[in-house]
Amino acid sequence: MQAYYSDNAVTLYQGDAWQVLRTLPGESVDAVITDPPYSTGAVTLAGKQAPPKVKYQNTGTVKQYPDMLGDGKDQRSFLTWAVMWLSEAWRVARTGAPVLIFTDWRQLPTVTDALQAAGFHWRGIVTWNKLCGRPILGEFRRDTEFIVYGSKGKYQTHTRQCLPCIYNHAVNPARKRHISGKPLPLLVELMEIVQPGGTVLDPFLGSGTTAKAARETGRKCIGVERSPEYVRIATEYLQETG
Ligand SMILES: C[S@@+](CC[C@H](N)C(=O)[O-])C[C@H]1O[C@@H](n2cnc3c(N)ncnc32)[C@H](O)[C@@H]1O
Repeated sequence: MQAYYSDNAVTLYQGDAWQVLRTLPGESVDAVITDPPYSTGAVTLAGKQAPPKVKYQNTGTVKQYPDMLGDGKDQRSFLTWAVMWLSEAWRVARTGAPVLIFTDWRQLPTVTDALQAAGFHWRGIVTWNKLCGRPILGEFRRDTEFIVYGSKGKYQTHTRQCLPCIYNHAVNPARKRHISGKPLPLLVELMEIVQPGGTVLDPFLGSGTTAKAARETGRKCIGVERSPEYVRIATEYLQETG
């Protein structure tokens, strides 16, 4: 398959994650780190199917982003779809590779089910503390998102360093390029799980944060993004210096 963009560390494909993953060779990447559309943000199906701008952005937010694709699935189709792309990610990952998948509290049980149904070992949950959750009267703040952590077979570590279970990083709106873009410093820290020089697969690259972090930390990245607008934004981000 023809790459949309490539440099000495990053190869980017525009297309559907499952279809692109099917073209990649087996046992060819050292980690999977990805942030798929959550298909969440509401209790009802009608709420979930609202455009991401409506369900994920606070009223009065000025910055506008291109639409995020594929975010309106109901639970059964979300699970089926997650098992499909995770099964291909399992095939493409080398034995012993770690897998990290972003999700929120609503989808956490479904993502851990999908991970295991696809063949990965489930190893734990890492917490991303966003330090910005809106207070809810009489309830717990929803300040956190989660990173489901697993491995293809027995985990093969490259480091003797103990990694944290909670990562504290606020989203910087001025630097955000995607409606649900993750902070670059968070991805930079998560790269510790990947061996230096290793290749990370991100099938839902968005604005390119995983690829940028991989390159900054001496890793490589294969990214896939379906949206033509976000693939362009990711390419521009990767071409920026600094
Ligand atoms: C949550 S966002 C990733 C954001 C990214 N972590 C960042 O920091 O910019 C998920 C991305 O997956 C893309 N996407 C949705 N369905 C897809 C599919 N089937 N194949 C590839 N990309 C898809 C969306 O357009 C969206 O940009």
